[in-house]
Amino acid sequence: CGIVGVVGSNQATPVILDALRRLEYRGYDSAGIATLEEGHVERRRAAGKLDHLATLLARMPLPGVTGIGHTRWATHGAPTENNAHPHGTERVSVVHNGIIENFEELRHELEAAGQVFSTDTDSETIAQLVDYHLQRGLSPREAAHECLKRLEGAYALAMIFAGHDGMVIGARHGAPLVVGFGDNEMFLGSDSLALAPLTRRIAYLDDGDWTVITPAGAAFFDMAGNPVERPVRLTALIAASVGKDGYRHYMEKELHEHPVVIGQTLQRLIDPATRRVVMPDLPFDLAAVQRVVLTACGSAFYAGMIGRYWIEQYARLPVDIDVASEMRYRNPPLTRGGLGLLISQSGETADTLAALRGMREAGQHIVSVLNVEQSTMARESDAVLGTVAGPEISVASTKAFTAQLSVLACLTIALGRARGLIGPAQEESMVTNLLDLPSKATEVFERHDEIRRMATIVADARDVLYLGRGAMFPVALEGALKLKEITYIHAEAYAAGEMKHGPISLIDNTVPVVATVPSGPLFEKTLSNLQEARARGGRLLVFTDMAGAPRLREIAECVVAIPTVDEFVAPILQTIPVQILAYEVALLKGTDVDQPRNLAKSVTVE
Ligand code: G6P
Repeated sequence: CGIVGVVGSNQATPVILDALRRLEYRGYDSAGIATLEEGHVERRRAAGKLDHLATLLARMPLPGVTGIGHTRWATHGAPTENNAHPHGTERVSVVHNGIIENFEELRHELEAAGQVFSTDTDSETIAQLVDYHLQRGLSPREAAHECLKRLEGAYALAMIFAGHDGMVIGARHGAPLVVGFGDNEMFLGSDSLALAPLTRRIAYLDDGDWTVITPAGAAFFDMAGNPVERPVRLTALIAASVGKDGYRHYMEKELHEHPVVIGQTLQRLIDPATRRVVMPDLPFDLAAVQRVVLTACGSAFYAGMIGRYWIEQYARLPVDIDVASEMRYRNPPLTRGGLGLLISQSGETADTLAALRGMREAGQHIVSVLNVEQSTMARESDAVLGTVAGPEISVASTKAFTAQLSVLACLTIALGRARGLIGPAQEESMVTNLLDLPSKATEVFERHDEIRRMATIVADARDVLYLGRGAMFPVALEGALKLKEITYIHAEAYAAGEMKHGPISLIDNTVPVVATVPSGPLFEKTLSNLQEARARGGRLLVFTDMAGAPRLREIAECVVAIPTVDEFVAPILQTIPVQILAYEVALLKGTDVDQPRNLAKSVTVE
């Protein structure tokens, strides 16, 4: 969920609404705003997208110079207007991101003490707890502090109080919150991007901090209530271009940014003159690393799987990999001094962050591959390898994925070199292959019409199977995930060689089989697997640089020719057409491409 707070001299509602638009990637089930008007708390809330709230506000404006806002991704309670934030009473109004784990216990206590609840949400408990203390005569600051002492779980909060114009209280524990410094105006936001057009002067709350903002500035406190100092930094963010630049959807625009983004990301890590990888300074010796433990969520996890193939193959280092929500609780035995590698576009995903902290406790060197370099993970890592993908607005990840792969490819070379396995000639050749990618990626878009034809077959299906071998298996997983996310068609991805051990029973002439089959040592083997599917009536849709291969022509219904590249970089290139395919299918199905149902771009709850 996304949070905003404003105090100052200008009308709060338009500022909050605008900031919420930049936070909509965190959820768009429902939204709400509360302001103080002549000392009274007033709020407007609406189920569905932010536009619904904007329409409501146009009809029923919300004046006031102090306010808070929220855009929600439902955890407890359905995404209805009644469950939308802000929550509160006539005395206090609260917006909350995260989960309060002990809310049932607190709710029982509060109900026994006479507090009357109007929703099922854990968030309302916070408001009721503060309200209870206010009624006992505590000041807002004291009531907020008493409340925070009791909360268990993860949260970021912002609250306003009846009769206290010009003040917002914010708190952070396990979910991000930043304070923005304006001129006689102060802001709270879930991230600095939300505040980017308002101010570049940002202070980050540490976990357990809370803050009182007034137009004159901010006071910071730790959990015990002691005043603390938090430095004000100048963020590099400018109000980045978030327009669609003439494209129909952000996803379409972001797909077209693949070539540029790969190029920009490689530029950071490669010296084109020497054709060598240049790593940023690391506070440990890469050559001494004996094992890598790698984790991420969603698409970033599939990028990590490709990273594992590379690191094991080219740097001969063992890589343990799992999704972050499993890695954390699996608690694998780790030897101190290993490399903990995290991948995240947002740098805020709660599961990945928790895994990061677990790895740190287990004595790993923490290196994160991140797109948002001012994120929580960035601040908790020993080193950050930045993807230069720019803001990714569409919920389904596209360009961030190929940028992550570009970074992982460079890291693989650095590891192989440090371990004496990649010599200067091999490094030069691997780097050259990487540097060729932007122009090869551009060529993929010349195949758009053929991909569109393929999409008409997929759009009619109820189930789709994606196949790939080796590093193409995670590409298949990414293709299936993208299709599920934005078209709601059921898709499964299998390692092509594994299909005969089970999923082959699903295949008949209603099931399209999408396969990624580049030239190389696994080409013939994968083809045999495809033949097994064809023999059961499966309709084969193939991405390959071997489009002319007679055996393939015989069995495939649809072949999209992809430029030939070296086996090392092939997964980066092959990802692009499978993502385009999902986009084209979504267009045919008429789904909400940029904001698919039930998803959020950044999930800051576990
Ligand atoms: C969410 C998004 C996915 C994304 C995943 C990881 O679930 O819907 O598209 O891949 O989070 O996000 P991250 O920001 O950590 O890369």
